[in-house]
Amino acid sequence: MTSTDSPTGSSTGSTGTADSRADDRLAADVTHEAARRRTFAVISHPDAGKSTLTEALALHAQVINQAGAVHGKAGRRSTVSDWMEMEKARGISITSAALQFAYGDHVINLVDTPGHSDFSEDTYRVLSAVDCAVMLIDAAKGLEPQTLKLFRVCKARGIPVITVINKWDRPGLDALALMEEIENDIQLQPTPLTWPVGIAGDFRGVLERRTGTYVAYTRTAGGATRAPEERMDGDAAAAREGEAWTASVEESDLLASDGSDHDQELFLSGFTTPVLFASAISNFGVAAILETLVELAPSPPPFRHGKEDAEGRPAEVREVAAPFSAFVFKVQAGMNAAHRDTVAFARVCSGVFERGMVATHAQSGRPFATKYAQALFGQERSVLDTAYPGDIIGLVNANALRVGDTIYLDEPVDFPPIPSFAPEHFAVATSADAGRFKQFRKGMDQLDHEGTVQVLRSDLRGNQAPVLAAVGPMQFEVAQARMEAEFGAPIRLERLGYTQARRTDAASVAGLSAVRGLEVLERGDGTLLVLAPDKWRISVVERDHPELTMETLVAGDR
Ligand code: G4P
Repeated sequence: MTSTDSPTGSSTGSTGTADSRADDRLAADVTHEAARRRTFAVISHPDAGKSTLTEALALHAQVINQAGAVHGKAGRRSTVSDWMEMEKARGISITSAALQFAYGDHVINLVDTPGHSDFSEDTYRVLSAVDCAVMLIDAAKGLEPQTLKLFRVCKARGIPVITVINKWDRPGLDALALMEEIENDIQLQPTPLTWPVGIAGDFRGVLERRTGTYVAYTRTAGGATRAPEERMDGDAAAAREGEAWTASVEESDLLASDGSDHDQELFLSGFTTPVLFASAISNFGVAAILETLVELAPSPPPFRHGKEDAEGRPAEVREVAAPFSAFVFKVQAGMNAAHRDTVAFARVCSGVFERGMVATHAQSGRPFATKYAQALFGQERSVLDTAYPGDIIGLVNANALRVGDTIYLDEPVDFPPIPSFAPEHFAVATSADAGRFKQFRKGMDQLDHEGTVQVLRSDLRGNQAPVLAAVGPMQFEVAQARMEAEFGAPIRLERLGYTQARRTDAASVAGLSAVRGLEVLERGDGTLLVLAPDKWRISVVERDHPELTMETLVAGDR
């Protein structure tokens, strides 16, 4: 498709003024649509209340597209993402897609992340597709291991974080102590926008720090409907709440004298995090989260691409109003038992996506037809006709697409690959049925392709016994279940004693392979990985053989 027969084309090739006027109108339309979008993910340690908050957010807004995002917690609302028996049985959300809703004049894309920390690699990929993250913290538990890891990943990737202290309806830690924990443990200055009135367990409402207004919450039965909010000035609040109000004002003043007030620039550049207090289960503070997203979170920015500049950043910029481009952040097969198809989830970076357009697949240079593009997702599929920067599209029958791939229209663009987490669990996979080797190989390739697990190979082990590498052991269970159910190729897994992987190069292979306890394997994308039993062994090799290359895999991951 060329720019002359496509309403999504660029000005390239435009001949007359009518054409260029149409192009200008289109660019203005895309810029407008991008500006009213907010694309974010909720991230947390498991059980902090991510699913509950997702439902509460959807309750507050008008859901446009449900992309398999409202989770399948056991006994809760059945979901679109329960495509796998295992997922249902465990009551966890393994798949991830997106939920799109309107909030006032804005369009909000909530990209789902898996709840289980074993799938943190998936979470990492989702973070590459969002412009902001809402970090949920359980008021009683404070910062937990997964919270810390995710904060670090956001910091490394420059993703602004809005922090929500959840479950304030239950006894928990002291609010000031929680702020101190955030500041000390992640070196991120918390700048609370609201401050609780009433200690954890006695949640009456919040002080809106910018205006000094008191927002009082009223409980509704089971939190099933929006919680009514009553706004009043300081005098009325003092008369109504007495000591709880005074204490809140005093603490808020203390924060102000400590420099803990919001600064938009510092927030966007990742030095500070606005903080809100909420109780997702009672729907308290949920409207404030949406308001904050709309007011403070960035709209889809231009994406960088191309060769790296002197500072190691891609040197070129794809403006949001440029012709269509998107990158794939997740590939999933078998999402619908009735259609054994592969869906690639892509984030639109620039231009308008229109179903039926023929884009170019940057990696192969081949045309990619989008006529089967569906608005998604999971089992509830509807046709998606148009999407703008920030939106998530589900491309069906996308066998050619891999995680990190780019598709574009007109001017070529190739976004940088999505970095992957360092795997910490390794197992040799062999076919349990010697007669099913063809299916075994096909299944392994597909799982590798989707990024369900990484598949590593070496001449030494041969094609019959690849090594599966995972961030969490549950990925092995998923691989095993899918090999049997989808490919009719049951596998045996033998766990290996490695916990560390580092990137190396061809020149170091011989040297590293000669060290006892180390093994070098090749990943599907050609990256050479050296596996080691522990960090100690790595530091010994680093000390004894400084000439051998061993690089950590991901910035922000430890
Ligand atoms: P996750 O997706 O982050 O893993 O957490 P999820 O929403 O499933 O919440 C974990 C547990 O915390 C759930 O209880 C949920 O009801 C509870 N929860 C979430 N938000 C709040 C809150 O604001 N206040 C209180 N008090 N509890 C909250 P559960 O007993 O594990 O499950 P369920 O029986 O309630 O479904």
